[in-house]
Amino acid sequence: MMICVPIVATTMEQALRDMREASARADIIELRIDYLHSNDLGRLLAERSRPVIVTNRRQEDGGKHTGTEEARLSLLREAIRLGAEYVDVEVHSAAKMPAERGRTKLIVSHHDFNETPKDLPSLWTRISEAGADVVKIATHARDLGDNLRVFDLLASSTAPTVAFCMGELGIISRILAPKYGSFYTFASLRKGSESAPGQLTLDEMEHIYRVRRIRPASRIYGVMGDPVAHSISPHIHNCAFEHLNIEAVYVPFMVEDPGRFLRELRSQDVWGLSVTIPHKQAIMAELDEIESAANLIGAVNTVVRREDRLIGFNTEWRASVEPVERAIAARTGRREVLKDMRVSILGAGGAARAAAYGFGAHGAKVTILNRTAERAKALAKDVRCKWHPWEERGAVPADIIVNATSVGMSPHVDETPYPAEYLREGLVVFDIVYNPLQTRLLREAEGRGCLTVSGLEMFIAQAAGQFELWTQTKAPEDLMRRTALAQLATG
Ligand code: ATR
Repeated sequence: MMICVPIVATTMEQALRDMREASARADIIELRIDYLHSNDLGRLLAERSRPVIVTNRRQEDGGKHTGTEEARLSLLREAIRLGAEYVDVEVHSAAKMPAERGRTKLIVSHHDFNETPKDLPSLWTRISEAGADVVKIATHARDLGDNLRVFDLLASSTAPTVAFCMGELGIISRILAPKYGSFYTFASLRKGSESAPGQLTLDEMEHIYRVRRIRPASRIYGVMGDPVAHSISPHIHNCAFEHLNIEAVYVPFMVEDPGRFLRELRSQDVWGLSVTIPHKQAIMAELDEIESAANLIGAVNTVVRREDRLIGFNTEWRASVEPVERAIAARTGRREVLKDMRVSILGAGGAARAAAYGFGAHGAKVTILNRTAERAKALAKDVRCKWHPWEERGAVPADIIVNATSVGMSPHVDETPYPAEYLREGLVVFDIVYNPLQTRLLREAEGRGCLTVSGLEMFIAQAAGQFELWTQTKAPEDLMRRTALAQLATG
């Protein structure tokens, strides 16, 4: 499979510069002549070092060409005369291309910026019969299921085909293109030079999703949530797969309706999911089996497929306990450090549930403190621990404080859930928030001589737990941590 970079510069100088830069990494270059205010096709072709696609798209089809139809088509004919490797023309204009095209191959395309039409196979046949050497279909994804229909089309195509969905919901079709045999997939040269909605950059395609390593047999994993665009999970799982040479790819699934998504997913080559906000509870009703800790916590953050069964797990409870246990053990040299420790957990959402269960399972004495008392009470009842009103959090005696609220999370970095005057030397303070890495709570705790534990440790530990459930292989935690840190630093 090839990666195609579109050149969308408006001046010849910039186009030539971009073409040179793109040629160092792309397999094929698309010259979007319609973006150029004035063009010298001969020079562009003379200076190419990669195969090129010459495209001159009119506005109605999502392009920029505003001149006459005759001017548009004559430039494409000129590209054929000059020996461009490919010319891309919409299906309605295909008949206007010369029958004799020398070495130039004709990409016949159809774009739909509104939806993914129902009957893709008959659209494919119509395009193929219009004289296409390569069939190209780009449609707008209204839901994730549209991608699956495009995958079916690719799998059943009998001639070279490029098919993908545009828009945020279509991103997976761009990444998974090599798995289903697309002739090429697009990537933009840099942020801001996309030629269509949802196009990822060359860096994202190569370095986060490692599309050049994706094969038909690659297993699919992913994170389902809403939103998922800023998740760093793809970075850490994909680099772990690569490091261990596991034939798999991890993608973001932007999911609104988890029930529908899981039903569609069962027919696909998907072997595991991370589940994030807001689906950790709702997904439980859709699974075939739920492991007992996840049931007790009342939240699933991991789905594992075993043959045809989808099984729910929770890797967060262990992940919230282990980093704290490790930090205390390193300081004291003792084992079983959590037994009888007094742990105040701030919050009563999914993260607090996992932490309350985890610390409780290790013999700690847990107290829940939450802004909404009803939720504190309900959680305390479920995991059989104490609770106190939020206002009393400074007065409850504690050895360990766990922030499982979202207070202090970027962009509200000046907030803290636990006023500094309550912090004293020797207290252990664990903040589940990892963005920013050093929250105000952790900064103030460090200043007062507390032992602090960053939420990144929990994030890495829960991801490592997922990776191990999926692959039965020890996760490369150091590499995952380094990757997460690098990503959080660049933002
Ligand atoms: P998660 O599943 O990540 O834990 P959640 O279920 O939305 O997410 O829980 C967020 C937690 O942060 C809740 O305990 C919430 O308190 P409420 O139950 O009262 O909503 C807590 N939280 C959010 N903003 C807060 C704030 N400004 N002050 C105190 N607690 C806050």
